[in-house]
Amino acid sequence: MSRTKRGRQWIQRHLNDRFVKQANREGYRSRAAYKLIEIDDRDRLLRPGSTVLDLGAAPGGWSQVCAERVRPGGHVIAVDVLEMAPVPGVGFVQGDMLTDETLDRVLALLPGAMADLVISDMAPNLSGIRAVDAARGEALVEMAVEIAVRVLKPPGAFLVKVFHGASFDRGLKELRSLFETVVVRKPAASRSSSSETYLLARGLLKR
Ligand SMILES: C[S@@+](CC[C@H](N)C(=O)[O-])C[C@H]1O[C@@H](n2cnc3c(N)ncnc32)[C@H](O)[C@@H]1O
Repeated sequence: MSRTKRGRQWIQRHLNDRFVKQANREGYRSRAAYKLIEIDDRDRLLRPGSTVLDLGAAPGGWSQVCAERVRPGGHVIAVDVLEMAPVPGVGFVQGDMLTDETLDRVLALLPGAMADLVISDMAPNLSGIRAVDAARGEALVEMAVEIAVRVLKPPGAFLVKVFHGASFDRGLKELRSLFETVVVRKPAASRSSSSETYLLARGLLKR
């Protein structure tokens, strides 16, 4: 199939998608917002007063959900390599999370350089070369784990997007050694055709 035809099919599917329609109606910037809403309704991660670090935040759907649910008294710090239009109540750092410079800017914005919850919806820019994309996905998961372990205030919770294959297996194994519990979540808004899944780890055991 040609790239143009695939592109047209993607646009059609996107326009017909029930979560895209719901996001437009309810003012969320991305259909991804409903992934976090479903997970949070079930697992109760976002609480008034808590501090959340949102990795890979643009265009900002997860940040919007966090800002609504940590009120009053909470803090949300969001990071993305891309620009993001301001979300009320959310501090934003534009930068690559794989660099120390971005991490330093993030730590400076987090109260006490700590967070109650770290969420990562980071996904690599796809090259189309399977091995390259898998390696990029794994590097993002590893970085997110490292940051979570560094900033989480015990007990702490960490939600991370992983992709089926090595990033899933390694991520699961590593998180099981670092947290008391780890569960797998595949919310309805995550397309069954997508290899993404979310791991939710709670109760940091060690730093
Ligand atoms: C699926 S989108 C996130 C959607 C977002 N959760 C929402 O609700 O709108 C993944 C994001 O990860 C970001 N990203 C990928 N690699 C990154 C990196 N190294 N540092 C920071 N952000 C990164 C991308 O720029 C992209 O905006």
